[in-house]
Amino acid sequence: MRSPIQAHSIGLPTDRRSFLKKGVATAGAATVSSGLFGKALPVFPKEDERSGKLRKGDAAILRFLAAAEILETDLWQQYNELGGIQDSEVPGGSGSPLYTAALAQLDSDMAQYIHDNTEDELTHEVFINAYLASKGADIVDLDKFRTLPSSKASGAQQIGRLTNLMQLSVDTTWWTRYRSGTKNPDFGDTFPQAVPTLAVGHHPAIPRTDADLSPSDHLQAIANTAGFHFGTIEQGGTSLYPSVAQRVSNVEVLRIVLSIGPTEAMHFQTWQDKAGNAPALTDPTDPTLVFPNLNTTPGGEDFQTNLIMPEPTVFLSHDLPACSIVRPTNTKGVAMGALQFLTASGLFLGQSKEFFAFLRDLAEDADDARREGD
Ligand SMILES: [Fe+2]
Ligand SMILES: [Fe+2]
Repeated sequence: MRSPIQAHSIGLPTDRRSFLKKGVATAGAATVSSGLFGKALPVFPKEDERSGKLRKGDAAILRFLAAAEILETDLWQQYNELGGIQDSEVPGGSGSPLYTAALAQLDSDMAQYIHDNTEDELTHEVFINAYLASKGADIVDLDKFRTLPSSKASGAQQIGRLTNLMQLSVDTTWWTRYRSGTKNPDFGDTFPQAVPTLAVGHHPAIPRTDADLSPSDHLQAIANTAGFHFGTIEQGGTSLYPSVAQRVSNVEVLRIVLSIGPTEAMHFQTWQDKAGNAPALTDPTDPTLVFPNLNTTPGGEDFQTNLIMPEPTVFLSHDLPACSIVRPTNTKGVAMGALQFLTASGLFLGQSKEFFAFLRDLAEDADDARREGD
């Protein structure tokens, strides 16, 4: 058994592709990419996706999670290159001092947290694919879709990306969802936005060019957007894992899902605390974008910034007592729901039809998975 300290000292593979190829060669598995990215797109020969020693549903759930983690890694890497700590654990960028300073308005440790969240996602991605490969199952490789442009701001690598952080519509309903003591999205309840103007239009969460580095309130609006987007992404992971876990059959696969999922919740908890520190301001270059002081506008318990623990609310039945829980955790259609949520945010703006078809296929297969005996 490897101790946490030893595991940390081993560090991350700096080249995930060579790591993954090594894993695949060891396990003798084919990649989804080689089999499915042929000219027949967007029609996918589903039967070609191999489950190896895993149950079909378990492999499908893990493949969707691998895809989600690859996408998470891609967006977090973009944040880290400009606003995180640059080191061998998370290599790539050279940092944007002004953007990093704007993020630090939310917490002086933001750069460390961004770095560590990025590293965590990379390990999730690499681990799940390596586990699939170790069981002789097909893995997920999205490299073909790394076609979106990088930020042109100083500090960012100029490489193809999977995700777009420069035109986001950030849903902030998680803020009020976790503060409500009477509602739960699994009962069809809806929730008000914390920052309504951030949920509409297209807003950069990273500087697009060095022109975005001034005036200072504009750059702060970009950092605030990132600060809320961090919570939006990680609350999604916080719900996704317990939602799919309900349809996993194998105990070891369940252990993987139950061990990664709560780290998403740890990220989310950190980010929702920091988002509450986002300075109140109006973006001088886009006066429609307003970050209110949530303690006064609108104020009240559904918006109070230090209420960061999940408020107990209705769970499973209105006849049962209120419970402090992750919400939502409904399992039906959760993979497609997650894909639609991310798509609606603008995260994939500019991506190809083939990209969406491929992810839809993975999501459908994950949603088709059934727990053995159910
Ligand atoms: Fe993750
Ligand atoms: Fe995450």
